[in-house]
Amino acid sequence: MTLDPQDWSEIRALGHRMLDDMIDWVAEVRARPVWGHMPAELRQELRAPLPTHGTPLPKLYEDFQRLILPYSSANEHPAMMGWVNGGGNPAGYLAELLAGIFSVNCGGRDHAAIEVERQVIAWAARMVGMPVNAGGLLVTGSSMANMIAVLVARRAALGETVRRHGLQSAPLVAYAQAGAHGCIPRALDMAGLGTDALHSIPVGPDHRMDVSALRDAIAQDRAAGRIPFLVVGTAGTVDTGAVDNLAAIADIAAGAKIWFHVDGAFGATAALSPRFRPLLAGIERADSLAFDFHKWAQVPYDAGCILVRDQALQLGTFAQSLAYLTQEQRGLAGNPPWPRDLGPDLSRGFRALKIWMTLRAYGTEGLAAVVDNGCDLARYLAARIGDEPWLELLAPVTLNIVCFRVCRGVGDLDALNRNLVADLQESGVAAPSTTTIDGKLAIRAALFNHRTTHADIDALLDGIRKLVHSAV
Ligand SMILES: Cc1ncc(COP(=O)(O)O)c(C=O)c1O
Repeated sequence: MTLDPQDWSEIRALGHRMLDDMIDWVAEVRARPVWGHMPAELRQELRAPLPTHGTPLPKLYEDFQRLILPYSSANEHPAMMGWVNGGGNPAGYLAELLAGIFSVNCGGRDHAAIEVERQVIAWAARMVGMPVNAGGLLVTGSSMANMIAVLVARRAALGETVRRHGLQSAPLVAYAQAGAHGCIPRALDMAGLGTDALHSIPVGPDHRMDVSALRDAIAQDRAAGRIPFLVVGTAGTVDTGAVDNLAAIADIAAGAKIWFHVDGAFGATAALSPRFRPLLAGIERADSLAFDFHKWAQVPYDAGCILVRDQALQLGTFAQSLAYLTQEQRGLAGNPPWPRDLGPDLSRGFRALKIWMTLRAYGTEGLAAVVDNGCDLARYLAARIGDEPWLELLAPVTLNIVCFRVCRGVGDLDALNRNLVADLQESGVAAPSTTTIDGKLAIRAALFNHRTTHADIDALLDGIRKLVHSAV
């Protein structure tokens, strides 16, 4: 029994149609609202019994077009300004198609996709100024990349016995700024250290880590018999886009002989822009760096990356000797070290192709222009907010994130702004998200999509103005 057809012509015709339709779907993105709520009856249709009989592919495609395609997460849309989401790009879309059909397993062995991934890792290191022979791995996203960094830092602090004996109550302590992403405490939790092992360092009014508080915390923990083992600097905080003083943190980590990790989930991409690279000074000194190509670099999901300066330590954290996965000097089982020894996954898809094709199609100059565009739009939005007395800016704009709110109105301003954001999303005009800044509910516009223009910023503010006036 084969799953292949006798005659490929129908598959070929359907495949061509799918590609044409999806290209139209992207090309015509501006004609659609940014987001639409999926009706309950369509959700219900997706809840079907496990299929026992086959269904013809044209019917499946029809279901995709009717049940799935109109209800996207809005990433592709220029009016998507919520959370931290990249918009995808044409080279990346086509690479996904190729990788899907190619369907290789990038856990290891001797084939070209492994070489493509190695090249992408070397380019990633070059992007931020880390050594090009640094270790690294493509992963789902920065949550996994940060998790890997914690495990490598734990291994560096406790030696290889930690892999056999576990923590043995070693009182390890890590540090990150108060606005660090939630995946950092979760990584400590998953690494068996517990979230209490993360000591939160306060930030100044600029939302950057107070580095003298970091120095004091390390000294106090040492005096109390704890083992400081990891400092996480954030390059682009999720709430406001603030960038920690990475050079100062690198100095402190080096002086205290502690692992220096940078969470640059989106901010590391700013290293491509000559305008914004100076903000990241010190990133090149990181022992490890987590970041995503699927955010500001616009590679289709998912495309996370971990870089580790010393590949031997990364191997020392994950490598296993297994008879059924022996790495040979020749044959298909050759080409060590295999990616499966650099992280927790054995089977892995060909994530590298969409990154390789995106970087080659647009070059670092093209992606730097995307970074500059997002930062310019953020400054434009902040300036327009400054001109409107009914709006207030809630945090300084460093990169491409703007936190603000409607500051005039009757009743609970938090509720007013929260409802405004939901109304905006449901109106289809724009999709910012929310967060809390200094106790105030903020409208958060994160300008990651490469299709967003000044007109989209104007539409966002016009949409807010109309909603506010209709509520009065
Ligand atoms: C600063 C920061 N770190 C980590 C993450 C987690 O990244 P991912 O969603 O790729 O797991 C994010 C996500 O927005 C982030 O902004």
